[in-house]
Amino acid sequence: MAQKAVETFELTSHGPTETRRIGRKLGKLLRSGDVLLLEGSFGAGKTVLAQGIARGLGVEERVISPSFTLVNEYMAGKSHGSIPVYHADLYRIANVDEALALGLEEYLAAQGIFIAEWPENIAEVWPEERLWIRLRTDDGEQRVIRFEARGVRYVRLLHDLETELAEHVRNDSGN
Ligand SMILES: Nc1ncnc2c1ncn2[C@@H]1O[C@H](COP(=O)(O)OP(=O)(O)O)[C@@H](O)[C@H]1O
Ligand SMILES: [Mg+2]
Repeated sequence: MAQKAVETFELTSHGPTETRRIGRKLGKLLRSGDVLLLEGSFGAGKTVLAQGIARGLGVEERVISPSFTLVNEYMAGKSHGSIPVYHADLYRIANVDEALALGLEEYLAAQGIFIAEWPENIAEVWPEERLWIRLRTDDGEQRVIRFEARGVRYVRLLHDLETELAEHVRNDSGN
């Protein structure tokens, strides 16, 4: 039987700038077809993380919360083949039918990057392989960010992210 490809990784961010930086490093590693699901209560930092991810993808436009539009579409930079970057906010989506009406399946099938906040509202629609990120408010500006990768692609992605973040710590401690 094939080994189940699941990996988790948890870290603490100490402020929005750090969360953005983590997002940027993650964004740089992404490629077309990737699905990122950002879970966490209001103010946990999902949008801040998504802004960092978009930045890492080379999105030049300002990334704002898609609370009212439900899905915002951006374009990645040339380094990422100018692919579309979809940023969804599913807070108001109560069930799968509403998600389908929104065109969720098309977004997921499209050549691009898909990032959703409040994925837990419609947990049953997500592909089995994805990166699930849960942000939890800790003390003050501290946020515990837990990554759960499912599938070979995402386990590798998470591994690469861990390596990138470790580099960062090493570089910082050298200064
Ligand atoms: N470590 C942190 N990471 C991210 N945001 C933080 C952090 N500490 C404080 N904040 C603040 O928390 C808020 C997070 O907002 P936002 O990303 O819109 O949350 P969400 O999308 O999860 O509702 C921002 O005002 C941000 O400045
Ligand atoms: Mg948000």
